[in-house]
Amino acid sequence: MKAFASDNYSGVHPEVIDALLKANAEHMGSYGNDAITARTKKLFQKFFGEDAEVLFVYNGTGANVVSLSLLTKSFNSIICSDLAHINVDESTAPERLLGCKLVDVPSIHGKITPELVEQKIIRVGDQHHPQPKVISISQTTEYATVYSVDEIKALSVVAKKHNMYLHMDGSRISNAAVSLGKEFRAFTRDAGVDVLSFGGTKNGMMFGEAVVIFNAELAKDAYYLRKQGMQLHSKMRFISAQFECLLSNDLWKRNATHSNAMAKRLEQGLRGIPNVKITQSVDANGVFAILPHGTTEVLQQEMFFYVWNEQTNEVRLMCSFDTKEEEIDRFVAKLKELTR
Ligand SMILES: Cc1ncc(COP(=O)(O)O)c(C=O)c1O
Repeated sequence: MKAFASDNYSGVHPEVIDALLKANAEHMGSYGNDAITARTKKLFQKFFGEDAEVLFVYNGTGANVVSLSLLTKSFNSIICSDLAHINVDESTAPERLLGCKLVDVPSIHGKITPELVEQKIIRVGDQHHPQPKVISISQTTEYATVYSVDEIKALSVVAKKHNMYLHMDGSRISNAAVSLGKEFRAFTRDAGVDVLSFGGTKNGMMFGEAVVIFNAELAKDAYYLRKQGMQLHSKMRFISAQFECLLSNDLWKRNATHSNAMAKRLEQGLRGIPNVKITQSVDANGVFAILPHGTTEVLQQEMFFYVWNEQTNEVRLMCSFDTKEEEIDRFVAKLKELTR
């Protein structure tokens, strides 16, 4: 069975499986003291600059919590979108582990803007109030839209103006890079991002994400905070080997190019059907649409997906590195048949 439910419903890319098997062939140092981890850090540094610090972690929630722990003290607040993964899909991991308050702003197509953020930067210096310290954005957003370089720069200007940091949840950063046609660095470090959660799992890895830090001062305590956050993998080479594979031979780009293209194909197919409304700009590998009444359950049998908004019947259709054109075409044909 294949699904549009999530890009982590997909399996693992065969090249990543091969890399895992190779990493399995011998004994190696633990906790990151191994040759694969050293090589993979260098690879990240090729993309982000030689002085970028890179720490591998298990999952996206862990990457976000470790990233944010570098930037905050327990009396701080983190400003994010109302839809942000840290706000609605990590239970209360950030609040529990950081002690900080998450302050959400109503997003526009998944994005937050300098104007919306500035409204929440209040009572700075007031001992009674949470002190704003981080703006956190998701790239791609939870609506699979993509911030432009200028939009990110504008948020970074606000962060700097108020002595705050900019964090990016890049669980789908490869899809964003392909969508923008830019190097990773152009819309992260060079656009003013301080710390980045770099995703691997949604783009063909089995598990593993990275925390990438662009400021040596912020990186100082990162190793302790990762351990405290229970994100230090003893057999680290099995995360780094996957990233080495993803970042070599353009696998990250091949996978994201494919999943983005599949979402475009799906969008085009759906646009030809009466009473289907595409609700968000299809910038990356997800399509959000309102489907005609009574079609959802039947289609879910064909290719499972989640209803995003029960009130409006807006659904979320995510494409993966292994989504096939035939699967898209079959889904579109089925919906056409149901609406005829
Ligand atoms: C925006 C965003 N951030 C982070 C994550 C990663 O979360 P985790 O690996 O903890 O499930 C996801 C996964 O759904 C996500 O959509």
